[in-house]
Amino acid sequence: MTSTPIEETLVLIKPDGVERQLTGEVLARIERKGYELVDLRMLTPSRELLTRHYLEHEGKPFFEGLLAFMSSGPVVAARVRGIRVIEGFRSLTGPTDPTTAPPGTIRGDLGRAWETPTILNIVHGSDSPESAARELAIWFAA
Ligand code: PPS
Repeated sequence: MTSTPIEETLVLIKPDGVERQLTGEVLARIERKGYELVDLRMLTPSRELLTRHYLEHEGKPFFEGLLAFMSSGPVVAARVRGIRVIEGFRSLTGPTDPTTAPPGTIRGDLGRAWETPTILNIVHGSDSPESAARELAIWFAA
């Protein structure tokens, strides 16, 4: 019998989520799903931290706008633990674009129309065990 894969993931409540006072709503959805909040931080991330976090997207058309948006105000970072939480939180979140994210997901339920080319989509969740380990080390460095 294989052992149960208990994982940790990095969740970010982005500046639009914090400004719209959705932090409690997002954390409640995580807890209602049965995941555990292991650590929390609130900070306005530097360009340097964000460049490391979004390394794989450097050079893409949205990169500069994404960094400007993510450094525009406080972000809540959460270390979240649970069985298959990496995949599970991504499924709670929904796809990148809130306009087409299905109802029932965080982005589908809570995402509002925005006027900038930069997508405002409330949350980030790590997309693989490798990303989770790398990102948690960036956001929760001792
Ligand atoms: S890609 O190119 O398929 O890898 O892009 P995707 O996986 O959809 O998104 C990668 C991260 O970039 C964010 N993103 C954007 N942010 C702002 N504006 C635009 N136009 C944009 N396009 C993609 C997307 O939300 C992902 O970041 P996280 O932090 O994981 O949400």
